[in-house]
Amino acid sequence: MNTLAGKHLVLGLSGGIACFKAAELCRALIKAGASVQVVMTDAAEHFMTAVTMQALSGRAVYTSQWDAREANNMAHINLSREADAIVVAPASADFLAKLLHGRADDLLSLMCLARPIDKVPLIVAPAMNREMWANPATQRNVAQLKADCVYVLDVGQGDQACGETGDGRMLEAQEILEDLQAFFAPKLLAGKTVLVTAGPTYEAIDPVRGITNLSSGKMGFAIARAARQAGADVTVIAGPVSLATPRGVRRIDVRSAQDMFCAVQTQVTQAQIFIATAAVADWRPHTQADQKIKKDAAGHTPQLAFIENPDILAGVAQSDRAQNGALFCVGFAAESHDLLAHATAKRLRKQVPLLVGNIGPSTFGQDDNALLLVDALGATELPRASKQDLADELIAEIARRL
Ligand code: CTP
Repeated sequence: MNTLAGKHLVLGLSGGIACFKAAELCRALIKAGASVQVVMTDAAEHFMTAVTMQALSGRAVYTSQWDAREANNMAHINLSREADAIVVAPASADFLAKLLHGRADDLLSLMCLARPIDKVPLIVAPAMNREMWANPATQRNVAQLKADCVYVLDVGQGDQACGETGDGRMLEAQEILEDLQAFFAPKLLAGKTVLVTAGPTYEAIDPVRGITNLSSGKMGFAIARAARQAGADVTVIAGPVSLATPRGVRRIDVRSAQDMFCAVQTQVTQAQIFIATAAVADWRPHTQADQKIKKDAAGHTPQLAFIENPDILAGVAQSDRAQNGALFCVGFAAESHDLLAHATAKRLRKQVPLLVGNIGPSTFGQDDNALLLVDALGATELPRASKQDLADELIAEIARRL
């Protein structure tokens, strides 16, 4: 959900090589519709110039509490009062220690201390060497900062600038952006567990060939992201797709309809909401050759016979938990024509309270879509928009119906 549009953020940089990612983060925040006031510590200026951050944010950067631009000479008060949040990225080990002790010997820490704690959340993205991160002093500081209502983002894992490998690097700009969007999103599904199926399935003919379809999984992944941002615990069961997993979403990769069926059976018992967006293959080849089927010299073509795959959604929707209201099921219908008629019939056939219709050929692989929501009361159109915006609207519609 783009909850950052219209928000005003103070982006604080403390000293660390991850300052280079703060440049990209600043750009991403502006692109998401936020306004950004950058504040840098002395140490940060060793890693990044204020000129770069000014150019990206479109505002002169503040670096000193003695900055005389403010008429009352109280930049720490003025800048923190107008902010919707202060985001410190990167937050060095030293800066976290300073926050913990309420020290205020530079503008950024002074501003964090001076912020109205109940109105201006403080969000920090730690960035440091793995040993510094693992040190009990840092871990103690992080635990206490969380207890003090500072929102501490996760750290990334992998190669570090120092040549070591481990936990402690700062999250990538896009990951921080997604976490910030989630931070501001209304928690419509707090406490709920959501299971989503997404993408196509692949039905093997032999070890190198198979039958699949053009579903990209984008709509399902957007729904998983929207549900997570709305506060739900989310698992996505994905057919073969090449998409990044949304932040905080658990992902189970499967290949065939039968794999997806088995994964859904084990996961759905914990869910309160099941959203079936996957374009599940209706049939699979009756037999699967162990070896590649070769052409024969006479030009005979192989004869394929099919058997029907289990209908995953229908099975779940007809379970006791769904029928007695403990599990809310949402189906999708990918049609090529007569959307309303097909979606209405499919909703009744599958016995789901809500069925979402879309025109398959005009949405598969695209970044946008148009949806038709069909329930017992009738049909509502969600006009063409990005799949993420539609996913956010759909999650709000589901929350309303629970
Ligand atoms: N679905 C499923 N398992 C299947 C087939 C479909 O769970 N074996 C789910 C889809 O994820 C979707 C809904 O059922 O939520 C409708 O899928 P769709 O392919 O549009 O419909 P079908 O049931 O396959 O019917 P038809 O192909 O005749 O339109």
